[in-house]
Amino acid sequence: MKVVIIVAVDRNYGIGKNNDLMWHLPDDMKFFKQKTLGHVVVMGRKNWDSIPPRFRPFSERENVILTRNSDFSADGAIVYNSMEDCLNAYEQESGRIIYIIGGGEIYRQALETGKVDEMLITRIDAEYDADTFFPEFDHSMWEEEVLDTHEKDEKHAHAFTFYKYSRKK
Ligand SMILES: NC(=O)c1ccc[n+]([C@@H]2O[C@H](COP(=O)([O-])OP(=O)(O)OC[C@H]3O[C@@H](n4cnc5c(N)ncnc54)[C@H](OP(=O)(O)O)[C@@H]3O)[C@@H](O)[C@H]2O)c1
Repeated sequence: MKVVIIVAVDRNYGIGKNNDLMWHLPDDMKFFKQKTLGHVVVMGRKNWDSIPPRFRPFSERENVILTRNSDFSADGAIVYNSMEDCLNAYEQESGRIIYIIGGGEIYRQALETGKVDEMLITRIDAEYDADTFFPEFDHSMWEEEVLDTHEKDEKHAHAFTFYKYSRKK
């Protein structure tokens, strides 16, 4: 099993406000799609709720929702009632990557399991008034690599940089 977090953050590691994203960055969306297509995407119930119905379930991906509500169901998605059950179910998975796609609670709990191998973090060069944050993590445990940079342009209000963090062995 390979577990990868994928997230976009502002300068303060803010990720959302009022259960929504705070920016519109088409080329970051493209990056998300290109990375996750054909794989498994694991998200919190609030994140699922925040996705416009026309975009969900994410096409050509196995959609997994975490909720503590045992009555919850959603068309086109698999539901687990705990992070542990979810990751155990994919323990033997070798073909597909398990992408943890947020939000804040889910990122935090995924990191706490110690099972995250890699993090793909888009860092946006701006500060927003977020109410939800990516958890702090010990940078000394992760190898940082810059994958690409993207300038501000007519479709992107801010510049951003794609980082890859690999857990040190
Ligand atoms: N910038 C980014 O890349 C990015 C990515 C994703 C999301 N976001 C943003 O993040 C925000 C949402 O994050 P959030 O922290 O509020 O919520 P969240 O992590 O998306 O979802 C939290 C919900 O997940 C369920 N849950 C959490 N831990 C669980 C566990 N161990 N077992 C079973 N279910 C569990 C619970 O659902 P129930 O209440 O149903 O029990 C909980 O209320 C939004 O603003 C969204 O736009 C940003």
